[in-house]
Amino acid sequence: MSSMMAELPFAPSAERNKQPILQVLQQQLPSAGRLLEIGSGTGQHVVYFAAAMPDWLWQPSEQLQHMPGLQQRLQQQAGGNVLPPIELDVAQAAHWPLRERYHAVYAANVAHIMSWPQVQAMFAGIQRCLQAAGVFLLYGPFHRDGQPTSAGNAAFDAQLRSPDNPHGSHQGIRDDRQLIRLGRAHGLQLVDDVAMPANNRILVFHANNEASHAQYQ
Ligand SMILES: C[S@@+](CC[C@H](N)C(=O)[O-])C[C@H]1O[C@@H](n2cnc3c(N)ncnc32)[C@H](O)[C@@H]1O
Repeated sequence: MSSMMAELPFAPSAERNKQPILQVLQQQLPSAGRLLEIGSGTGQHVVYFAAAMPDWLWQPSEQLQHMPGLQQRLQQQAGGNVLPPIELDVAQAAHWPLRERYHAVYAANVAHIMSWPQVQAMFAGIQRCLQAAGVFLLYGPFHRDGQPTSAGNAAFDAQLRSPDNPHGSHQGIRDDRQLIRLGRAHGLQLVDDVAMPANNRILVFHANNEASHAQYQ
């Protein structure tokens, strides 16, 4: 058993930040609902949050290439309120789960990994799949008014944008003003901006555009 556990994909940062993020989810979300996670990664977050918030139904998602590791963790550790993960590349309009709309969407450490057009596609998809008055929580490092909030974030941003970045120099820490503007364009209003350890933040958006949902009802 212990050797099987050791094979699970593991992110030390997710282990460090899961408790402070859980506190914010508990403060920001109603007592029950259905939540879609974008970019579930190793699954450490969803397993932990779902155990602590049993009245929520959790829908993890990932891009196809990361699915095996996620599935492995969920099979071993997820409780009954975690649905099987779905394939979701935010840029693929057909991947978005639209049959049932969600009360909340959560994404951690994705905006600086995605290209800007993918971030735009993510907001467009969230607009389509969130219920009216739904909540979108976006965790990660963000520039404030165009400036890095720490020397560490400045160095990380330079690394992401470098031509030597093996994943592509389209990556980079996003500016909060651009995200707020993008949210507004998709009926998502910034309602809170929560400081987190290690110069991260959680941007909290509320869906406020009834008209945008009309065509999907
Ligand atoms: C740094 S990992 C974060 C994983 C996890 N949320 C965490 O905080 O530990 C970045 C995540 O972004 C996801 N991602 C990148 N591009 C994506 C896209 N186009 N659509 C969906 N997810 C994407 C990756 O699959 C990966 O899970």
